[in-house]
Amino acid sequence: MPSIPFQALACPLDGQPLALVENNTWCCAAGHSFDIARQGYVNLLPVQHKRSQDPGDSKAMVAARQRFLQAGHYQPLAEAISRYVATWAARQPSGAEGFSCLDAGCGEGYYLRRLARSVPHELALIGLDISKWAIMAAAKQDDKQAPVSRWVVGSNAHLPVQPAALDGVLCMFGFPVYDEFARVLKSGGVLLQVEAGAQHLRELREVIYPQLKPERSPALEVPEGFAYIDEETLSYPIRLEGQQAIADLLAMTPHLYRASAEGRARAAELDQLAMTVDVRLVQWARR
Ligand SMILES: C[S@@+](CC[C@H](N)C(=O)[O-])C[C@H]1O[C@@H](n2cnc3c(N)ncnc32)[C@H](O)[C@@H]1O
Ligand SMILES: [Zn+2]
Repeated sequence: MPSIPFQALACPLDGQPLALVENNTWCCAAGHSFDIARQGYVNLLPVQHKRSQDPGDSKAMVAARQRFLQAGHYQPLAEAISRYVATWAARQPSGAEGFSCLDAGCGEGYYLRRLARSVPHELALIGLDISKWAIMAAAKQDDKQAPVSRWVVGSNAHLPVQPAALDGVLCMFGFPVYDEFARVLKSGGVLLQVEAGAQHLRELREVIYPQLKPERSPALEVPEGFAYIDEETLSYPIRLEGQQAIADLLAMTPHLYRASAEGRARAAELDQLAMTVDVRLVQWARR
């Protein structure tokens, strides 16, 4: 089902609603304006919200994640996410506008593209990431005539979204900022948080670390403004073939930085690796 464009963006400088002018610039009433780039995304990350010159995932990390995801290793996860969004959207009262959903830290947009294709309800999607490389890669893969999502460079810490504008927020392997998620969600809206479980990529970690940390998932604390709905675990085996695939996986996880040079060298010697994917999907409801 084609997406309807998400409209409720807010100025990152003063929080006022943004209006789309001549289909190429977002403007607020105070005269701040943000052009839509040639590739079809908008940068709503002002310099004062940047902690570094080039924040978030680098161009190389984004390319590695894109190759890894395109190989289909996380397809069962994408299908699970699509099922959640379809269930939420089906609960909307008839006559409601499309189900609006933000992917906060969307990377190169894999999950939004997949769900736009498979969810049979009208959706208004927004993919936001602090990495301009991630958002450029997402926008480049989208159809300019019928885009699946708005693509926005921005930060979860200051979401450029109007208050109570969203029915759903996805935060996958990301950096949740609960008070911002609470601000932008409608009452009764849903937050789906996806995190690595205790066994996630254990076989890779066994190769790169001399000793693994004790395996337990941290206890969940209910974020302020939310109520716990439920959680599920998704576990399945994958098999990586070839050094490039293993290097890509390492490049898209925090292990690339955490591992020692010896650990990374051991991973680089492998030609194949059988591994466990183990992720935790937790649903929270905005009160
Ligand atoms: C581990 S990646 C996950 C990407 C995507 N959700 C996925 O699962 O494929 C984490 C992403 O969060 C982004 N990120 C880091 N800090 C952020 C912030 N403060 N706000 C928004 N995105 C952020 C990174 O640029 C990166 O794309
Ligand atoms: Zn403004």
